[in-house]
Amino acid sequence: MSRLRNKTALITGGARGIGAAIARAFRDEGAAVLLIDIDGDEGQATADQIGARFARLDVSSEADWDAVAEQYPALDVLVNNAGITGFEGPFDGPPPAHDPENASLADWRAVHAVNSDGTFLGCRYAIRAMRAKGAGSIINISSRSGLVGIPMAAAYAASKAAIRNHTKSVALYCAGQGLAIRCNSIHPAAIMTPMWEPMLGDGPDRTEREAAMVADTPLRRFGEAEEVAALAVLLASDEVTYMTGAELTIDGGILAGSAATPGG
Ligand SMILES: NC(=O)c1ccc[n+]([C@@H]2O[C@H](COP(=O)([O-])OP(=O)(O)OC[C@H]3O[C@@H](n4cnc5c(N)ncnc54)[C@H](O)[C@@H]3O)[C@@H](O)[C@H]2O)c1
Repeated sequence: MSRLRNKTALITGGARGIGAAIARAFRDEGAAVLLIDIDGDEGQATADQIGARFARLDVSSEADWDAVAEQYPALDVLVNNAGITGFEGPFDGPPPAHDPENASLADWRAVHAVNSDGTFLGCRYAIRAMRAKGAGSIINISSRSGLVGIPMAAAYAASKAAIRNHTKSVALYCAGQGLAIRCNSIHPAAIMTPMWEPMLGDGPDRTEREAAMVADTPLRRFGEAEEVAALAVLLASDEVTYMTGAELTIDGGILAGSAATPGG
C-alpha cells in the first residue's frame, strides 16, 4: 500500500466524515498527511488516531490560509473537502429557508464563504505550493448538488456548482502555465456521514427516513465515506496523470438516468 509514498497531502474538513476517510486512506497509502478543520478537538483526535498532523483552520479565512502557506510552503496533494449545507444548526426555531424566494443574503453568503471561497483560497494556496515541483493534484469535493438544481438548498447547490466550474478554470490555468498540476472534482451523493444527522434525526422513524432518502437511488443505499476516499486516492496518485478538469460522480447511479424514465 504505497500509491502515495513520498507525497505530502493536505485535507480540509478532515475531522470526520468523508475528509477523515480520505485522510486515513492517504495515510494507508504512505502519504504524509496534514489534516485541517475548524473543529479543533475532533480534528486533533482524528489526526492522532490516523497518525496525521493537525492544524485548526477556517477555510473561509484568507489569514488562516496565509498561515498554512507560511508553515507548509510545499505540497503534492490538496483535497478541498470542508463544506457546509447551512442546515447544521442548532437553531432557535425551525431551520432557515434556503429556497430562492426566501433565503436570506446572510445565509446565502455563509454557505458560499465556506464552500466556494474556501475552495478558491485552497486552490490558490495549492498552485503556489506546487509550483516549485511543477506537479501536483488538487481534488475539489463538489456534489451531485453542483450538477442539478436543489430548490430547498439553493445556496449549497450554487456553491457546489461554483466549485465544479472553478475546478475547470484551475485545471486550464495550470495546464496553460506548463504545470503538471491537475485539478478534478468529485461529485458524491448520499454518503452516510454526520452531515446527514440533522436530516435523519434520532427518532423512531430514522430507519424509514433513511430508506426514503435513497428510494430513488439506483443502488438503493447510502454510499460509504471510504468509497469516496478510494476515488480520491486514485486522483491523488500518479496513475491518472492525463486526467484534469474532470468531474467524477459517485452517487449510486442517480445521475445516470432522469426522473422521467419512459418505458421504465
Ligand atoms: N455526505 C454526503 O452525502 C455528501 C454529498 C455530496 C457532497 N458532500 C461534500 O463532501 C464534503 C464532506 O462532507 P461530509 O458529509 O463528510 O460532512 P461533515 O459535516 O461530516 O464534515 C465536514 C467537515 O468540515 C469541517 N468544516 C466545516 N466548516 C469548516 C470551515 N469553515 N473550515 C474548516 N473546516 C470546516 C467540519 O468541522 C467537519 O469536520 C463536503 O464538502 C460536502 O458538501 C457530502
